[in-house]
Amino acid sequence: MKIMEGVEYLLVKENKTMYMKVIAIDGGPRKAGSTTTLVSHILKGAEKKGAETEIISLYDLDYSGCRGCLYCKSHNSCKQDDDMNIVYDKIWDADVILFATPVYFAQMTGQLKNCLDRLYALIDAEYVSRLSAGKKFGVVVTQGDESAPFCETIKSTIEFTMEFLGIESCGSINANGVHEAADLLRMTDLLAKAEAFGEKAVS
Ligand SMILES: Cc1cc2nc3c(=O)[nH]c(=O)nc-3n(C[C@H](O)[C@H](O)[C@H](O)COP(=O)(O)O)c2cc1C
Repeated sequence: MKIMEGVEYLLVKENKTMYMKVIAIDGGPRKAGSTTTLVSHILKGAEKKGAETEIISLYDLDYSGCRGCLYCKSHNSCKQDDDMNIVYDKIWDADVILFATPVYFAQMTGQLKNCLDRLYALIDAEYVSRLSAGKKFGVVVTQGDESAPFCETIKSTIEFTMEFLGIESCGSINANGVHEAADLLRMTDLLAKAEAFGEKAVS
């Protein structure tokens, strides 16, 4: 009996490690750009640890911003029936959610901000998250400027949103002074850091 219990425990544990799901909600428009390239390196690290990974490109989806109708406070869904349903489903299933964006005029892209606003539908009328506990989030930012702290501004906006959703941070990573993927690919230390970030996020 004890041996059986032990075996079962191991299987459950192994299952969790094998099937940890990491999604990257990518708010950048350029699929071969520096943001998606940085995300790919993080996901490579997560995959090394056996995680399933997926990039959700917001620019491929058709959705609007939050309309503030508060339908989601009396129903367990958003009134707008659009591609945000894909994002909601992926978030329900994910263990780790990465939010990635290039800096556009000192902020995250409009697509990512609209997506964040729509996550209001995952919070009930008492401002309690409808999501299961134990999820983690990370922030990935690229910018042209060498040193301006845009990443910090973006990070704090995402952190503020995630606090409502009861999702804990697993950190952030940013690349400064990049204008295209080639710039990022020269930053070998940062790429190694990104891979390690991905490994740690699922460990
Ligand atoms: C519309 C637009 C606005 C931008 N605004 C800023 C900015 O305010 N600060 C900055 O450092 N870089 C800015 N950039 C540069 C991008 O953030 C940077 O090159 C980023 O790495 C591009 O990511 P991508 O290769 O994934 O598209 C801007 C780029 C665009 C296209």
